[in-house]
Amino acid sequence: MALKVTLIPGDGIGLEVTSATKDVIDASGVDIEWEIVTAGSSVVPAYGAPLPQYVIESIKKNKVALKGPITTPVGKGFRSVNVALRQNLNLYANVRPIKSYAGIPSLYDNVDLIIVRENTEGLYSGVEHMVGNDASESIKIVTRKACDRIIKFAFEYAKKEGYKKVTAVHKANILKLSDGMFLQSAIESSKKYKDIQFQDMIVDAMSMKLIQQPQKYDIIVAPNLYGDILSDMAAGLVGGLGVVPGANIGDDIAVFEPVHGSAPDIAGKNIANPTATILSGIMMLKYLGKYEEAEKIETALSEVIKEGKSLTQDLGGNLGTREFANEIIKRME
Ligand code: NAI
Ligand code: MG
Repeated sequence: MALKVTLIPGDGIGLEVTSATKDVIDASGVDIEWEIVTAGSSVVPAYGAPLPQYVIESIKKNKVALKGPITTPVGKGFRSVNVALRQNLNLYANVRPIKSYAGIPSLYDNVDLIIVRENTEGLYSGVEHMVGNDASESIKIVTRKACDRIIKFAFEYAKKEGYKKVTAVHKANILKLSDGMFLQSAIESSKKYKDIQFQDMIVDAMSMKLIQQPQKYDIIVAPNLYGDILSDMAAGLVGGLGVVPGANIGDDIAVFEPVHGSAPDIAGKNIANPTATILSGIMMLKYLGKYEEAEKIETALSEVIKEGKSLTQDLGGNLGTREFANEIIKRME
């Protein structure tokens, strides 16, 4: 029976990169029935908001979605579609694999790590207020429940994906209660996973070590803000926005999407790099248990990139979005 997946093309280059990715996934032989639902700028005139309820309903029904980037309208009182989606669907784990591919200009070879970021609380809880006119407070909310579930997610992910080490990042030396709770949760949970090494690291030291020796890390699990910053920094180690995939995962629902935005500067020109979205699609296939097809696409993609003859402009080549995808499809035949 076909697997049902919600496909949200998104805005700008989202249309081009998701269409290319859909074709690559279909060419792998996996039987997916796509339910295509539109969100973003194009639906604002009709629905008054970029994230209509039917999009949420489709994801709730199918449990899995592949999503293109969506432009957050500026200054019109709209919330970010991504924040709204994560909260609506309780997608508490943000997963960003940082992997170097031969052929992509980057600072290091052999980087293969995953940043697991807590996606629901911490300094992104949205509790902020002024105290008089000249002071302000942002409240960092940390609950044991959210700590325990993100730490457990990180260890289970390590187990499932065959990684050997989990590093928990914090600043518990200063934030003794909030980050202290996160660290305590990590230490406690680590005892249940005898086959996986565990270490903790203070976030500033982690930043330095990640730049110096990124190959030494497998799974890095972090509270919301540190995870946000570390993952963008780490993306810079392996070739940048065009090539880094991501996923927002909850207990039984997952939304896969590239890290980059809708790139209005290059939209509609068939020049965007679809690699980040294709890699997000590969993550999705693995989540669905379709390891064989996932590997087939990953092998074809890495071969095309490695040869270096068929690349998009951001990586120094001259292929269009569509032509690059076709190279991968040809390779799989
Ligand atoms: P952006 O990621 O869209 O673009 C930054 C720069 O990277 C641009 O020069 C762009 O051309 C380039 N770039 C991005 N993806 C590329 C690709 N696949 N291939 C080649 N070049 C690529 O970030 P920006 O400009 O800050 O945001 C544009 C819009 O996207 C905003 O409305 C923002 O809110 C939205 N956005 C949406 C996200 C989502 O839906 N997940 C995530 C980030 C931004
Ligand atoms: Mg960020």
